[in-house]
Amino acid sequence: MQGDTRVIETERLWLRAMRADDVDELLTIFADPRVMASFGGALFDRAQMERWVQRNLTHQARFGYGLFSVIHKSDRRLIGDCGLENMDIEGHAETELGYDFHSDYWNRGLATEAAAAVRAHAFGPLGLQRIVSLIREGNVASQRVAEKIGMRRTGDIVRNGHAYQLYSLMRTQEQTIEPDCLPT
Ligand SMILES: CC(C)(COP(=O)(O)OP(=O)(O)OC[C@H]1O[C@@H](n2cnc3c(N)ncnc32)[C@H](O)[C@@H]1OP(=O)(O)O)[C@@H](O)C(=O)NCCC(=O)NCCS
Repeated sequence: MQGDTRVIETERLWLRAMRADDVDELLTIFADPRVMASFGGALFDRAQMERWVQRNLTHQARFGYGLFSVIHKSDRRLIGDCGLENMDIEGHAETELGYDFHSDYWNRGLATEAAAAVRAHAFGPLGLQRIVSLIREGNVASQRVAEKIGMRRTGDIVRNGHAYQLYSLMRTQEQTIEPDCLPT
């Protein structure tokens, strides 16, 4: 993976394009009750995981970007996803930065490290002007990741019956990022 220009490398992680054969490893994350508590508690089964991966692969093929699979360099495990998804939010075309990590790896700054790298990718090579994150009320860890990479809460919305906080960051605000969150 080292030297592959399609891969984003940070100090502890590789972010590479998601593949159809990532389903089983992603399922260890999306069938984990600690992870899925953030989304209402229902665990994914294999068919749901396959559909979720396929949706991301279709997005990747259509727009040239999507969610990366995140590989932990020291043990080579797939420990999360992090990346971008275009979506309509209250009638506005937005690009959402999202992340989900295996609970064995929480609270080591890894989601922040991945999200900071994706933010740099969005505002650099992809030339996006704005990214947002939709975070459910009470998901303090996710809110904290968004804050650490410079995003700020700019609204509250209800979507599919759930209350979300809308975090956003404009390209012109990139200088507000906490320096220790910059990718290597
Ligand atoms: C959100 C998530 C990706 C964060 O991953 P992570 O690798 O643990 O994130 P980081 O270690 O980079 O940062 C987590 C921050 O949240 C803080 N945090 C975690 N749980 C917390 C809690 N219950 N209360 C307050 N702060 C909390 C940590 O202390 C850390 O902040 P700090 O660096 O200021 O101390 C992970 O918790 C996860 O996968 N959750 C389930 C899926 C999910 O919610 N995805 C996001 C959907 S919007």
